[in-house]
Amino acid sequence: MIRLPRTLFLTGADRGLGLALVEEFLRHGVHVFAGIHSSSAEIRGLTNVDYSLLTLIDLDVSVPDSIRAAVAAVDRHTDSLDVLVNSAGVHLEDKRVPLEELDFDDGHLERSMAVNAFGPLRVVQAFLPLLEEGTGRRIVNITSEAGSIGACWRDREFAYSLSKCAANMATRLLNNYLEPKGFDVLAIHPGWIRSEMGGPEADLSPAEAATEVAGLILGPLPENGAIYIDHRGNNLPW
Ligand SMILES: NC(=O)c1ccc[n+]([C@@H]2O[C@H](COP(=O)([O-])OP(=O)(O)OC[C@H]3O[C@@H](n4cnc5c(N)ncnc54)[C@H](OP(=O)(O)O)[C@@H]3O)[C@@H](O)[C@H]2O)c1
Repeated sequence: MIRLPRTLFLTGADRGLGLALVEEFLRHGVHVFAGIHSSSAEIRGLTNVDYSLLTLIDLDVSVPDSIRAAVAAVDRHTDSLDVLVNSAGVHLEDKRVPLEELDFDDGHLERSMAVNAFGPLRVVQAFLPLLEEGTGRRIVNITSEAGSIGACWRDREFAYSLSKCAANMATRLLNNYLEPKGFDVLAIHPGWIRSEMGGPEADLSPAEAATEVAGLILGPLPENGAIYIDHRGNNLPW
């Protein structure tokens, strides 16, 4: 991006990476519309941020009515959005069971797809008119290296990996469709983060990951034209 965005919408701002990204963008003076799924307690507790730049918006990315209401709420505050960041996500496989124990009937596969894959797509579709009025024209899906087929090392975590792989494909399709209108659509793997999802053993604090990821979101595209990258800007194989 050549200049800093004025306005940005982000999903999954309750906690973890989404919350840390909000802090980072506010520090850059960007007006953040933060999608809150279930609790605004942590975001309301942020210190040293300019709250006049923050607007909280209720949002469940798997519920069409919730997305419509979020668009209407944002619309009341601004005529345009420069950047959209889809950070909301679920990893519903605490036990990481092997194939033999995979439960097709408990709904975790469908739920993972609904939030991780269809969620970002629904959000992009709904917010596109506002994004088309903006000047940033950047959409970022926080996916995962778990969605890479080319670099796949896992032999389980089916729901998460399939849903992130689908989110990667959504990114590619969206980029193909929206590039002629001047948009960049990126899929970013944010690193292994010590959030509720990543657990306490992970490499990066949410703040460390957010600094790197925000730098990529606000910066120029990688010179090699890669759109599926990790938090350091390295190209990932699809
Ligand atoms: N943590 C890692 O190591 C890691 C690695 C690779 C990729 N990622 C990706 O990075 C993103 C952020 O992960 P994280 O580590 O920050 O996870 P996290 O701590 O579990 O936070 C996930 C966020 O998504 C929200 N969310 C869940 N379901 C939602 C829904 N239906 N609609 C809207 N928001 C919803 C959660 O809200 P609630 O609090 O209400 O549940 C929470 O705010 C995810 O897309 C994740 O897949 C994370």
